[in-house]
Amino acid sequence: MDLKCIFSLAILISQISLSSTQNVNVVIQGATPIAETDDNFVCATLDWWPTEKCNYNQCPWGKAGILNLDLKKKGLINAIKAFNPLRIKIGGSLQDQVVYGVGGVKNCPNFMKNEDSLFGFSQGCLPMERWDELNNFFNQTGVKVTFGLNALLKRNRSEIEKGLWVGDWQSQNAGDFMKYTISKGYKVDSYEFGNQLSGAGMGASVEAEQYGKDIVVLKNLVKELHPDPKTQPKVLGPSGYYDEKWFNSFLEVSGHDVVDGVTHHIYNLGPGDDPNVIAKIQDPSYLNQVSQTYKGVLNIVNKFKPQSRAWVSESGEALHGGAKDLSPTFADGFWYLDQLGMASTYNQKVFCRQTLIGGNYALLNTTTSIPNPDYYDALLWHRLMGSTVLAVTQESNPNLRVYAHCAKKKPGISIIFINLSKDSLFNVTLSNYEHQGRNLRSTDVVKPNFEFRGSKDREEYHLAALAGNILGQIVLLNDVPMFQQKHLTFRRWSQSLSMLPHPSIL
Ligand SMILES: *[C@@H]1O[C@H](CO)[C@@H](O)[C@H](O)[C@H]1NC(C)=O
Ligand SMILES: *[C@@H]1O[C@H](CO)[C@@H](O)[C@H](O)[C@H]1NC(C)=O
Ligand SMILES: *[C@@H]1O[C@H](CO)[C@@H](O)[C@H](O)[C@H]1NC(C)=O
Ligand SMILES: *[C@@H]1O[C@H](CO)[C@@H](O)[C@H](O)[C@H]1NC(C)=O
Ligand SMILES: *[C@@H]1O[C@H](CO)[C@@H](O)[C@H](O)[C@H]1NC(C)=O
Repeated sequence: MDLKCIFSLAILISQISLSSTQNVNVVIQGATPIAETDDNFVCATLDWWPTEKCNYNQCPWGKAGILNLDLKKKGLINAIKAFNPLRIKIGGSLQDQVVYGVGGVKNCPNFMKNEDSLFGFSQGCLPMERWDELNNFFNQTGVKVTFGLNALLKRNRSEIEKGLWVGDWQSQNAGDFMKYTISKGYKVDSYEFGNQLSGAGMGASVEAEQYGKDIVVLKNLVKELHPDPKTQPKVLGPSGYYDEKWFNSFLEVSGHDVVDGVTHHIYNLGPGDDPNVIAKIQDPSYLNQVSQTYKGVLNIVNKFKPQSRAWVSESGEALHGGAKDLSPTFADGFWYLDQLGMASTYNQKVFCRQTLIGGNYALLNTTTSIPNPDYYDALLWHRLMGSTVLAVTQESNPNLRVYAHCAKKKPGISIIFINLSKDSLFNVTLSNYEHQGRNLRSTDVVKPNFEFRGSKDREEYHLAALAGNILGQIVLLNDVPMFQQKHLTFRRWSQSLSMLPHPSIL
């Protein structure tokens, strides 16, 4: 077998200081891809939450909800454009309470606080003028759109079982919305059906058999309105937590060729007010636990073989808006980059970060649109990590996480090292297995502190927190704060990469 990609790039996420050194052997199997992500693997969400949405005595949404967001902000526009293109998923808890202001819907009110209603808000409405503005914005910034549809339309709460919603989904309003969207020439990459209605649901649930029946109705509607298979939006679901029994039943009922992608949510660090989130984020065995979920989803996908496989259609490090003092800091990257790496190795095609903007877990500051540390992680991943995922073995040290992909834009391998250790330096010896189990060829030897030796074509991106303060917001890229960088450049470079505008001029 040919060598698929040649070693040349490295991204490193580390804290630098002098202390004990541990030897680590990292073996990359450059010839055997283990998974393939979508070209637009990095994705971020926009959510419906209104300003009045609060958790833990704070209200972190400001004017970042889909109905309120200022689409003229230069920072926001440039931050999205830098991805060229960014995949955006529109959805969230209130998605199953959105009606579309088109067709028979004459009255189009905003969400209102209402204790008795699902998630504490009344139904809200998306006026078509706002949908026009959003699409102009998506067009201008080059966004690939996944739109989460209301899957509770015209269902009723069960009188017997709390939280369960019953009755058939009525497709009329969604159909009118799609017709309007087509008439305007707006492109939608995919429609996702409902939000967190699988299993026990979050607030509301629908039985798997019912959901399976209804997604067939949605698929037929999409096919009827988009007869050309080349421009037909994908149909995704169920966009909830993985529950083996529920996912199985739903896919058995829907049958083959209906669901293009199986979507699920990951919040593996628990609630945002848990003081232990910071400990979990740096604990390799804790971080590993979520691999059980990825394995389960992978089994389901291998069994039913949907065309677009599995997607993580929503994930944040902590529930209910994120962790205020942690999400917008350098430390969050330990979780985020590790998730991007792990999800890729489990052949997840897309990973949507909750959120692009809004809440504490946003990639961009909700009020200023200035990038939080994770924004740079997302952008570096998008630019450097290609879609072909390679096997990496490294047994000696759980505190060093390593993921390798073929490089995005040029021949080579991009490798990311994440240092979770509180005190060790790593002396990494890197080898490349060209042929499984044979001909181990040592292509590079790495000096302590991730200083590679040998390859002059290598580009290094060292990310570190200013003054070692991992709970700070200032990220250094090769020792220079991000906000002082004209470009996202690498160290000891030999060829130029595409450059990022200075964040302060974003
Ligand atoms: C933006 O809209 C124009 C006109 O409809 C279209 O030609 C172009 O492809 C769109 N661009 C993107 C990125 O969708
Ligand atoms: C929901 O309840 C209303 C009022 O009782 C009824 O008219 C409607 O048919 C019900 N919808 C479904 C899907 O059962
Ligand atoms: C967003 O920026 C404002 C102004 O700098 C700051 O007060 C706020 O804490 C930031 N929000 C988050 C979640 O970091
Ligand atoms: C890993 O991070 C710790 C601090 O969190 C630091 O002491 C150590 O030097 C780092 N190791 C490397 C190789 O950067
Ligand atoms: C790092 O590992 C290499 C290869 O095993 C070895 O030759 C070198 O002495 C080590 N360096 C340190 C500082 O331990």
